Amino acid sequence: MIHEVIVTTVNKDKKVHIAPMGVKFLQTDSKKLVQISPFKPSQTLNNILETKIATVNFIDNVKVFSGIVTGEKKDWELEIFDDKCAPHLQNTNTHMNVKAIEDHDDPVRPRIICEVINEQIHRPFLGFNRAQFSVIELAVLSTRLGRIDDNKIRDEMKYLKIGIDKTAGKNEKEAWEWIEKKINIYFENND
Ligand SMILES: Cc1cc2nc3c(=O)[nH]c(=O)nc-3n(C[C@H](O)[C@H](O)[C@H](O)COP(=O)(O)O)c2cc1C
Repeated sequence: MIHEVIVTTVNKDKKVHIAPMGVKFLQTDSKKLVQISPFKPSQTLNNILETKIATVNFIDNVKVFSGIVTGEKKDWELEIFDDKCAPHLQNTNTHMNVKAIEDHDDPVRPRIICEVINEQIHRPFLGFNRAQFSVIELAVLSTRLGRIDDNKIRDEMKYLKIGIDKTAGKNEKEAWEWIEKKINIYFENND
């Protein structure tokens, strides 16, 4: 199972980087392990290799995903649990501070295996929402423009919009509009 999350990392000068990523929990008897798989090149990858730490934010505010992939809002309020950990997002539901323990290099998509060293729940999970799902799907598509057929993107956008029209709140609508704008600009420039 892949969890769509926000990963916060720092470089050796403590400069923070925030990026959406898909992570997997790995089954072990003793340790709680999380696998992060950034494509090359990636600031997230560089930072983890440099400092060996990251923080995984499980968050239902989809504007964070949308804001980052569109560039509409890349900076989000951060909080520090501990000096030795990467900061977490102030508005996250749950965060896990992790430490990289294995690096499986790959020319395309290395896998970084991390051990969870701290875990905190900040706010409750309030159930599934179709509009949030739509925003996440469209956010992923928007990072693959030019690699996925334009007509497939148009079709998927039309389908995903149903979830927005039926179930979105103000936050999800705005998150959707940011990505819609990014995709439309891409279409206009590539017609
Ligand atoms: C929901 C979601 C999941 C993503 N998962 C990954 C991932 O697992 N690996 C990856 O490299 N990029 C992933 N991306 C794309 C990155 O967030 C985006 O390309 C970003 O720029 C990563 O590069 P960076 O670390 O240099 O910022 C995902 C994007 C979204 C919206």
